Amino acid sequence: MEQLTTVDAWRRYCADARARGAVVGLVPTMGALHAGHASLVDTAKRECDVVVVTIFVNPRQFNDPDDLRKYPRPLEDDLARCRELGVDAVVTPSMEEMWPAYPAATATTVTVAGVSEGLEGAGRPGHFDGVASVVAKLLIVTGPSRAYFGEKDFQQLAVVRQMVADLALDVTVVGCPIVREASGLALSSRNVRLDAAAHERALGFSRALAAVHDGVARTADDMRAVLRDVLEDAGIDVAYAEVVDPTTLRPLGAGDEGVARVLLAGFVDGVRLLDNGELRVIATKGATSVAGH
Ligand code: PAJ
Repeated sequence: MEQLTTVDAWRRYCADARARGAVVGLVPTMGALHAGHASLVDTAKRECDVVVVTIFVNPRQFNDPDDLRKYPRPLEDDLARCRELGVDAVVTPSMEEMWPAYPAATATTVTVAGVSEGLEGAGRPGHFDGVASVVAKLLIVTGPSRAYFGEKDFQQLAVVRQMVADLALDVTVVGCPIVREASGLALSSRNVRLDAAAHERALGFSRALAAVHDGVARTADDMRAVLRDVLEDAGIDVAYAEVVDPTTLRPLGAGDEGVARVLLAGFVDGVRLLDNGELRVIATKGATSVAGH
């Protein structure tokens, strides 16, 4: 496995792979790798000849300096994990390589309007500008045929898809399903910050998703209320509990039907956690019922 630390070496490695006719797959991460990241790598391994994993804790997407400071950075473990997974190249660029001006602002920012504005975008100003700017750079330097993102960060996936479409970037964006613990908790690098009691409270997210899959007819607003109740009962400080169109991420109203997405965010012991799931909404006489699946 190659470890590449400069933009030049990284660009050259990927250009050489493409010149050999290899299908290059990119898995962007911020490290502290877990089975969720591993599932992206496994999918990339199946679909590509050369798999490149980037590990870079991107400060531009952290709106909370405390969150950035506490973000786990177990680099040696991550490198060992990548080796076990059969990754071809791990890119671990320094701050100077990625954002030479940091901590000063970088002159160029990629902003994706619309889909980035509500939900995480509303609670974390500047977050998706930071994500879109770094993902654009990772895609431009790597030049992959395929790039892998988790549905765990559902809005991020929508933002990346919109950016790739708008800028006509020549890459297929692949969305991968959420990987969960046996308990139901979605895996996240931030879970290591939860003690046993906080972990227990965090199970409220998957419980809330289950509660709206029970097939009982409800309006979209009723569903929001149920979601919020379950989260609050669990002791989660709710940021949002939304039922949205899976492409535009606009909130559904009564009368909308088809495949929808439940998006949840909240704080447990000051740690911001996300979860989401798919459901099918059926509009009946202005009410909304749910056929779970
Ligand atoms: P990070 O949080 O490290 O996540 C890297 C990728 O792994 C993302 O696409 C994320 O959705 C996916 N992922 C995380 N937990 C998952 C789970 N439980 N199941 C499935 N996939 C999961 O997301 C980022 O980093 C950054 O914003 C990044 C895209 C790298 C840009 O800095």
